[in-house]
Amino acid sequence: MSILSGKEIVLGITGCIAAYKSVELVRQLVKHGAQVHVVMTKNACEFITPLTFQTLSGNPVTIELFNLYEEKEIGHIALAQRADIFVIAPATANSIGKVAHGIADDMLSTVVMATRAPVLFAPAMNANMWENPIVQNNIESLKGRGYHFIEPDRGDLACGVQGQGRLAETEDVLDVIMTILSPNDFNQKKVIVTAGPTRELLDPVRFLSNPSSGKMGFAIARALQQRGAYVTLISGPTALAQPRNIAYVPVQSAREMAEAVNRHFDETEIVVMSAAVADYRPKEAAAHKIKKADAALTLEFERTSDILESLSAQKANRILVGFAAETQDMLAHAQEKLHRKKLDLIVANDVSRDDAGFGTDTNAVTLIFADGATEELPTMSKAELAHKLLDRIATLTGSS
Ligand code: CTP
Repeated sequence: MSILSGKEIVLGITGCIAAYKSVELVRQLVKHGAQVHVVMTKNACEFITPLTFQTLSGNPVTIELFNLYEEKEIGHIALAQRADIFVIAPATANSIGKVAHGIADDMLSTVVMATRAPVLFAPAMNANMWENPIVQNNIESLKGRGYHFIEPDRGDLACGVQGQGRLAETEDVLDVIMTILSPNDFNQKKVIVTAGPTRELLDPVRFLSNPSSGKMGFAIARALQQRGAYVTLISGPTALAQPRNIAYVPVQSAREMAEAVNRHFDETEIVVMSAAVADYRPKEAAAHKIKKADAALTLEFERTSDILESLSAQKANRILVGFAAETQDMLAHAQEKLHRKKLDLIVANDVSRDDAGFGTDTNAVTLIFADGATEELPTMSKAELAHKLLDRIATLTGSS
């Protein structure tokens, strides 16, 4: 179950070309099981129709302050009180300025004023407006009062200029909403997460690797960050976007991954090794492209070092979590790895299934604990599994 499931989210939409991007935000929030109540300014309705949001959210959209019918149905104070979080996306310079100065002259600014829920602004505007000291002062003053902001991205702006002002990506806005609503049970804990495959070069243009997409490790890193941890994400090559607010160390080979993990290990309290690390590398990588010949090609491979196993010798009171990617005898193999690598927990993964393992958005795993207890989990999204895994790790660290 997503952290957003059952949450009451008021989404304020102000008049800006980026208003169309809020359509996807509503879709994602609803997909995560949230109840979304959209409040639009009159100017926002010039860019996109309320019907779009009403259809997607399944709830009436509020615009006018003195609409008696809507007042009876919802009531702006009731909406403000019911909210678990208030999100204004996109937030114009005008809407930020109004809240910063206590102006409540339409439905949206009135409800924001009346709420005790956390408020998140996702600004979108022209780059010069964004840099204007008046806007920046308003933002600083709101931040000082506990209001949350997600900075706009840089890039091409609708007004034809380049700069900072694009509404943050939907995925990043969602991430911040989840962070605000998540428990802080990993508060300031230092955690290493490894993700993705490694690549072992045969020659400058060929490598030995595996189909790991990095999705599971990235989801764990994101969930940890949402729950207050300081995460170092060490990842082999993936197609995934680098997550915001997470220290990111890109690596290629098993050797590079081992070096990166060892560099950060001393100050780390928890290590989650979800990377699919190569067990072998070519004994010698050719300096130049290997040319084909008629004869069969034989290459000699040597073992890479087992990162997790080497950490177990210096474990002290750290928590070590491994993954076991298996295609047969999953539990027996995973249990053997748990003991050999002295892990606290291993996530056993049957990678031959269609709904689990490499590249999928869902996963179905069995958790095996050091005391022999097992917990079989149903198929769920990798983001949900990440949080479930953290619930169990929090119990192991005594922080839940
Ligand atoms: N692992 C590691 N270093 C390696 C290989 C694996 O740290 N060189 C970690 C993985 O990140 C994972 C766990 O060990 O958390 C188990 O990996 P897996 O590939 O399933 O098992 P192996 O120990 O490599 O055994 P085998 O390949 O024989 O199944």
